[in-house]
Amino acid sequence: MQKKFFIVLLVLVVATSMVFAQGTKDQKKSDSLEIFSWWTAGGEAEGLDAMIKVFENRYPGIELINATVAGGAGTNAKAVLATRMQGGNPPDTFQVHAGHELIDTWVVSDFMEPITFVLKDAGYMDKFPSDVIDIISYKGEVYSIPVNIHRSNVMWYSPSLFKQYNLKVPSTWAEFLQAAEVFKRNGIPALALGDNESWAATHLLENVLLSSLGADGYRDLWQGKIKWNDSRVRDGLTTYTKILGYVNRDHAALANMDAAGYVAEGKAAINIMGDWAAGYYYSQGFEQGKDWDWAPAPGTSGVFNMLSDSFGLPKNAPNRDNVIKWLTICASREGQDAFNPIKGSIPARTDGDRSKYDRYLNAAMDDFARDTIVPSVAHGAAISEPWLTRVNDIMALFTTELNVDKAITEFQAAADRYAPK
Ligand code: GAL
Repeated sequence: MQKKFFIVLLVLVVATSMVFAQGTKDQKKSDSLEIFSWWTAGGEAEGLDAMIKVFENRYPGIELINATVAGGAGTNAKAVLATRMQGGNPPDTFQVHAGHELIDTWVVSDFMEPITFVLKDAGYMDKFPSDVIDIISYKGEVYSIPVNIHRSNVMWYSPSLFKQYNLKVPSTWAEFLQAAEVFKRNGIPALALGDNESWAATHLLENVLLSSLGADGYRDLWQGKIKWNDSRVRDGLTTYTKILGYVNRDHAALANMDAAGYVAEGKAAINIMGDWAAGYYYSQGFEQGKDWDWAPAPGTSGVFNMLSDSFGLPKNAPNRDNVIKWLTICASREGQDAFNPIKGSIPARTDGDRSKYDRYLNAAMDDFARDTIVPSVAHGAAISEPWLTRVNDIMALFTTELNVDKAITEFQAAADRYAPK
């Protein structure tokens, strides 16, 4: 009898603790949200915080886990993400570039849930340009929410250095090379480069190629329709080798944001970088017009080389309902207008409140509406990730060896292997 009583008691205790454990697990589940990104640098970290604040104000009960893996352009984050996704341990939501990075890497391989309903339910479907909807869609469904539009082809320059040496701000690479000679004679690197991660070299090259090929040629090159031994491509690669004659000596050890910083500190004349550099300048208190100013990258006026950061819903996200809440904030005017003025990007939505954005970002909005748009290579919009990885590897060597013929052969081999047939 006593024995029976103990067994019943034991069963009861085990059952209760299981129910309790399940309860805490469910509670934990519905009370948290892990957001995975590589936004750790000045400007981008604060921008994300601002959007997180909007979320926390609306959903104070949900614990937010801001999971970041440092490294520009997702250099390290993308590898960590791949391991987690393939291991069946996805973050609730993650930063992903709209275009090939999203579609080829995650959607076609069936890792993501369609989220058209998020935009539809909130009535936001027509708040985004149709071109942007196109690059986040696959077979008629939307797969991520674009939080911004960044511009790749921006030249950040030091107004004071150009003034001091009485030089015209270059609008072509030929003009740049002339000015660069003067800077060189005075011991100033004309171009700040921070390619401790090779994507920064790819970033520079994509914009040099954009200038030598023009928008159509650039698009054709990255769709495999133009060969790498085309004279315009060779011209671009040759220009790249010349430009590299005027960079800061420590470029291979320098991070991209620090290179942008060199310009604002008057240590170098120009830097070619996406407009997260503006976010960095805001965060460091550098002033537009005084410490820095901007123009389209040489030879690319009238063209907007674009990329977009977005967030999606992985299949089996631990906190699916919370992800939907987050995505709705990401898609909202309030969320976008909290994030972008700090991040240095323009809203992906067309109805951003312009009064919240500075002079640079207002000009970027005008240009985005008016210019010819091309997709960025270095930031996942134009080509697939395996192709980009190869391009980055080629660039790491090309930047030290400056061997145009070898680069042409290698780039062509990569295009033969990875370009759409
Ligand atoms: C880009 C990303 C930007 C910014 C930049 C530097 O790929 O789209 O948002 O984070 O990298 O890390």
